[in-house]
Amino acid sequence: MKYNFDEIIDRSNTYSLKWEKYKSTGIIPMWVADMDFKTPPAIQETLKKTIEHGILGYTIIPDELNNAVIARLKVLYDWKVEKGWVIWLPGVVCGLNVACAAFGAPQDKIVTTTPIYPPFLSAPGNCGKILATVPMIDVNQRATLDFNALENELKENTGLFMFCNPYNPCGTVFAKEEINKLVELCAAYDVIICSDEIHSDFILDEGRHHIPAASLSKTAAGQTITLMAPSKTYNIPGLGCSFAIIPDKGLRNKFKSSLKGLIPDVNLLGLFAAKAAYTECDKWLSALIAYLRKNRDIVQYRVNKMKGCKLNLIESTYLAWVDVRGTGLKDPVSFFEKAGIGVSDGSFFGQKGFIRLNFGCPVSLLKEGLKRMGAALESL
Ligand SMILES: Cc1ncc(COP(=O)(O)O)c(C=O)c1O
Repeated sequence: MKYNFDEIIDRSNTYSLKWEKYKSTGIIPMWVADMDFKTPPAIQETLKKTIEHGILGYTIIPDELNNAVIARLKVLYDWKVEKGWVIWLPGVVCGLNVACAAFGAPQDKIVTTTPIYPPFLSAPGNCGKILATVPMIDVNQRATLDFNALENELKENTGLFMFCNPYNPCGTVFAKEEINKLVELCAAYDVIICSDEIHSDFILDEGRHHIPAASLSKTAAGQTITLMAPSKTYNIPGLGCSFAIIPDKGLRNKFKSSLKGLIPDVNLLGLFAAKAAYTECDKWLSALIAYLRKNRDIVQYRVNKMKGCKLNLIESTYLAWVDVRGTGLKDPVSFFEKAGIGVSDGSFFGQKGFIRLNFGCPVSLLKEGLKRMGAALESL
């Protein structure tokens, strides 16, 4: 079946966060991480059927869904997950915040790396804990962990490390050696890892593959909370459906008790969509990845030619983390908005002088956005 990722879909008046921001301005929104593609046909079908049934009641988690997740993780990563380890959640960000509240003593720090997806930076403070950050370092034009700096932070009263793999915004897909080293460090200082793996299906670099941190060893499984979701992959982020995997019983019970009374069950549409995603949409996903790889190549080539811009190889995600320090722009986001393209501001991720550009859109829209960006920079 041929899927049409080239189709331009009008998202106005659909309560879209991405598009409403620039309503009636002509600015192309290339900021928040949702894609301008329709969700796969099988998901559309199951949602239609659910609506046509007409009753949208409270939910239970169906066995078929847990079985689908377990089978998928075994096939993709040879990771043997047990049903009791899976906890469904209305969002990965919700999972990050619950992990921050559940683990570590109140005076403990929660460590993460920068630049990072902004909710990582706000989650510790949301539950009254202290955030500590360690900058990523570029090695051979690839952002990676600075293990020395990380160890210096982890050894000082740290309860939790928030890890993002694949990495939003830099796109890094961490290798086995890197994850092993991280697990060893965290184990040495008794630090729990919360591993956000929401972007794990978007591996664009053919030479890399995703490794769930918890799947690496018994030690890793015993100290890791993994967060995953069908939401990014199948473009259903508005349905609020994700899950945590926690093999260790003690950690699982702590996490579960922090959910009580605060976190609602996953909604009906999210559950049906997730089941269809994990059982009927493999071909769509392969086609999507092929499309995104082409978009990635275009972004990589064109942005690196733009005046004052630099871009590392994008290993994963549909997000480009562009170094615009060479442009001398004080406020690059306003500058690009004036040029008709809406991007995310690096300072929200903890790194000024960078922008994040979302290339999960039809190629014609992407090319128009890049044309505007390049022309504006030429006029500087
Ligand atoms: C790393 C990461 N985690 C979590 C989320 C959002 O997850 P959710 O919508 O399930 O809260 C995003 C969305 O961009 C993300 O990039």
